[in-house]
Amino acid sequence: MLILGLNMFHADASAAIIQDGEVVFAIAEERLNRQKHYGGFPGRAVKACLDAVGARLQDIDHVAVGQDKDANLAKKVQYALTNPAKILNFIKMRQRKEAMRDVRTLLANALDVDKNELKFQEHHLEHHIAHIASAYYCSPWEKAAGFSYDGSGDFVSTMMARCEGNHIEVLDRVFLPHSLGSFYTMICEFIGYKKYGDEGKVMGLAPYGRDTYCERIDPVIGLANGGFQLDLNYFKPLGSNQGMQVLPDGTVKLARHFSERMEKLFGDAREPHTEITQRDMDLAFAMQHRFEEVFFHLMKELHRRVPVEDLAMAGGCALNSVANGKVFEKTPFTRTSIQPAAGDEGLAIGAALHTYHSILGYPRKREMKHSYLGPEFSESRIESDLKSAGLKYRRLDREPLLESVAEQMSAGNVVGWFQGRMEWGPRALGNRSIVAHPGLPNMKDVLNARIKHREWFRPFAPSILADQQLEYFEHGHPSPFMLHVYKIRPEKRKELCAVNHVDDTGRLQSVARDENALYYDLIQAFRQKTGIPVVVNTSFNENEPIVCAPGEAIDCFKRTKMDAIAIGPFLALKSEN
Ligand SMILES: [Fe+2]
Repeated sequence: MLILGLNMFHADASAAIIQDGEVVFAIAEERLNRQKHYGGFPGRAVKACLDAVGARLQDIDHVAVGQDKDANLAKKVQYALTNPAKILNFIKMRQRKEAMRDVRTLLANALDVDKNELKFQEHHLEHHIAHIASAYYCSPWEKAAGFSYDGSGDFVSTMMARCEGNHIEVLDRVFLPHSLGSFYTMICEFIGYKKYGDEGKVMGLAPYGRDTYCERIDPVIGLANGGFQLDLNYFKPLGSNQGMQVLPDGTVKLARHFSERMEKLFGDAREPHTEITQRDMDLAFAMQHRFEEVFFHLMKELHRRVPVEDLAMAGGCALNSVANGKVFEKTPFTRTSIQPAAGDEGLAIGAALHTYHSILGYPRKREMKHSYLGPEFSESRIESDLKSAGLKYRRLDREPLLESVAEQMSAGNVVGWFQGRMEWGPRALGNRSIVAHPGLPNMKDVLNARIKHREWFRPFAPSILADQQLEYFEHGHPSPFMLHVYKIRPEKRKELCAVNHVDDTGRLQSVARDENALYYDLIQAFRQKTGIPVVVNTSFNENEPIVCAPGEAIDCFKRTKMDAIAIGPFLALKSEN
């Protein structure tokens, strides 16, 4: 049985296909159309899903969409009635959603097939149910506390659920305008980070701040009865889309969130690309601090309602790896399951898995052990792309390739590492990565100057052999998808200086051999040369979506100052090109 899952007309549009309950392929549209966070219809992603299983659209049995325009309708209407501007916006959005709802026509047009030949049954799942399903049905557990939180989805920002067997029972929802995600976005915008998805950057800025504004920021989001409430005086009144809009070309645009009250309290908002002051850092600190307090408060309430040890979590805010890393100390939960695409692209697999298990009642399969669900390319395709790019390269067997790349890294060089199937989710996890030596004090500057051009305050992340995690980090809970930040042990901070953030933490990827043998062996080869079981791992891109196809990787290699690229079995050096 084939189920196609979709996240469409929403940020990070994506498609996933599950065959007899197993997620066999999943991809965000941005990787194919090269438009970051693309929020239109994921036509290319759907085609890639079908190609991956050798099926036609006519063969699909079910289509599941992680959005339900009728969910929480009464709440939406009630909110819209509070002022005329919102009513107009609300009506416009309903009309647009009506057009979007005709999934059959959209799919038939995108793939140029006759609509009447399509046999699939259609399912529309509430946004946060799809989020929770993506986490729970990818977990190994038969019972878990389910949690989802983000800016907004189907008029809800937060959901708690009891997950058991094939059932997800919703226990509570927090409705808009109250949203922990909007709280975070509002302050990010105030300090000059106004683009969709900038929140992750500001999380890296927070540890540079001091506790100057915590007391003043706390009332912006108050705790109440196991939940929370925004003080709306700090926010610009938003329409029923809560400030996020998808433009006709698929660009995702944020409306201004903060009100004049923020400026009265903290001075002028920072304009992008101007100097970051101590004020901005202190605000970032207070924002992350309050975010965590509210999150832990919600976790305690969730645990009171679902007293188990296992937490299955998703939603854009579940990408807050700093908060995730503290779950084990600050909440009663001892294990987390967060699939790699915790943000909205993950709705595609969530909707499909929810349909398979909760709606159709098929038994659970297995946990998601790795993120390599995207396309892969043949050796001949890679070689022909290298040739047409005019590069000099060598073909190496597995061992010499690992040896050469480890040698490059230990000499302080930066290597593009392109292997196997592309990762699912926003992180590069060793198949579309740029790798380097983590123990060279200037490596962060080298990566930034030569390739990444990122803000000075953003840390680079380490990939570590899973069996040595506890020697280097203060927590041993696996972080296979780079979604947990832990303290680096004091005696190892110098050894990992290029990935040791200002607060002595690292957003690690624990690499187990049975999850990615080639990448594990690369780190192992590097360890043999340097004694360090860690490499710097940053995504293979330069201000663009992560590279997907060989040609994109080769272009990135050519236009940046990357020293080498290992692409499939081929190695090309900048010094020879
Ligand atoms: Fe979401």
